[in-house]
Amino acid sequence: MYKKDFPIFRNAKFMNKSLVYLDSASSTQKPHTVINAIPYLYENFYANVHRGIYKLSEESTGMYEDVRDITSKFINASKKEIVFTKGTTDSINMIVYFFAKKILKKNDLVILSEMEHHSNIVPWIILQKEIGFNIEYIKVNEKGDLLNLDLLLEHNPKILSITHVSNVLGNINDVIGIVKKAHDKGAYVLIDGAQAVSHMRVDVKKIDCDFYVFSSHKMLGPTGVGVMYAKSEILEKYDPSFSGGEAVISVSKDNIVYKDIPYKFEPGTPNFIDVIAFGYAISYIEKIGILKIQKYIEDLSLYTYDKLINIERLKLFGDGRKSGIFSFHIENIHPHDIASSLDEDNIAIRAGHHCAKILMDRLNLSSLSRCSLYIYNDERDIDKFISSLNKTIDLFS
Ligand code: ALA
Repeated sequence: MYKKDFPIFRNAKFMNKSLVYLDSASSTQKPHTVINAIPYLYENFYANVHRGIYKLSEESTGMYEDVRDITSKFINASKKEIVFTKGTTDSINMIVYFFAKKILKKNDLVILSEMEHHSNIVPWIILQKEIGFNIEYIKVNEKGDLLNLDLLLEHNPKILSITHVSNVLGNINDVIGIVKKAHDKGAYVLIDGAQAVSHMRVDVKKIDCDFYVFSSHKMLGPTGVGVMYAKSEILEKYDPSFSGGEAVISVSKDNIVYKDIPYKFEPGTPNFIDVIAFGYAISYIEKIGILKIQKYIEDLSLYTYDKLINIERLKLFGDGRKSGIFSFHIENIHPHDIASSLDEDNIAIRAGHHCAKILMDRLNLSSLSRCSLYIYNDERDIDKFISSLNKTIDLFS
C-alpha cells in the first residue's frame, strides 16, 4: 500500500525482478518526500543556521528549529531536551563522555544486556578501561527474555543502558518497568531506541528514562542524523565533553560560558539540511499515524511468523511477532549462503553477527540470517521471500 511512495521499488530491479527489501532494521528506504527535500533545500534554503543576520539564514534556522519541535512532540519531550547528533552511536558516545565519565568511579557498576548492539557496548568498555568501573550484563535466553535483571539491580548500579527493541531478536523490552526498577535503586537509565521509534509510539515522559537515543536513517530519514534526548535537568547540570563554535556565549583565555541547552551540546555547523529532511520523514510517519504503522507491522509480522515456523530445519531466535525482526538459523546452511541465494531473486536480508557479538556468543553462534520489515513491505514480499528460502534449502540439501 505504501510502496508507491518509495522510488527505489520502481528503480532497483535486477533481471526484471522487483526488489524485496527485508533489511529495514539495518536502514530503511526513503519516501520521495524525503529524497526530494534534499535538492529542494540546497537549491532554495541553503545558508548556515544560527549565524546569519539575513533572511536566508533566518529561514534555514527556522526550519531547523521546527524539526527540533516536531521531534520533541514525536517522543513527548520538550524542545530543549532534543540534541541533534550524527546517529545513535554518536548519541551514546556523547552520553558516555559528557555524563557517565563524570559520575562513574572505580568499582561502580554499569548494567548492560547481552542483547545490546556494539554501539551500546564498545563505548562503555573503552571508558571502563579508563576508570575501572564494573560492567555486568543482563543474561538473555534464546527467546529473548531478560533473565537476571532484578538480581543485578540488587548491586545498586549507577547506570543501566539497554535497548528498547533488540536488533537481532526483535524482542520489545518492557522499558517502563525496567526504568522504574532501576530508578528505585538510584540508577540512571539510557534507552537505545534505534529499532523502536519507527515502529511504536515512544513517550519518553511515560518511560521516564534519563536518556533516549535514535537515528533518522532507521525511520525513513537521511543518514548522518541522530537524536539524543536527555532530561533537561541533566543537560543543564553537565558541561559537554567536546565543544567549539556556536555552543558558547563567550570565550576568554581562562573561561568559557556555554549557551543554554540544547545549543551547548551542538558545537560546529550542524548537518542542518539532513536534519530538516529528517523532519519530512517524521511528518510522513505522522501523516500515516504511528499507531497505524504499528498495527500494519504487527499484522505483517504475524503473517511472516506463521510462514517461518512451518519451514522445517529453520530455527527462529527471539520474538519478532510485534517488531517484524526475525533472526533465524537453517541447519547446515551458512547465513551468508542464504543471503546470497536470496539476492539472486533480488531479495535483501542481512546475514552476519549484526554487531551483536556478545549475543552471538551467548547463543553459541557466529552468525544468523535476519529479515526485518517496514511499511513498504506486503504479503507478496513475504510470499516471495518464503518461496526463495524454500528454494535455497532444496538447493543446499
Ligand atoms: N544496527 C543495524 C542493524 O542491526 C545496522 O542491522
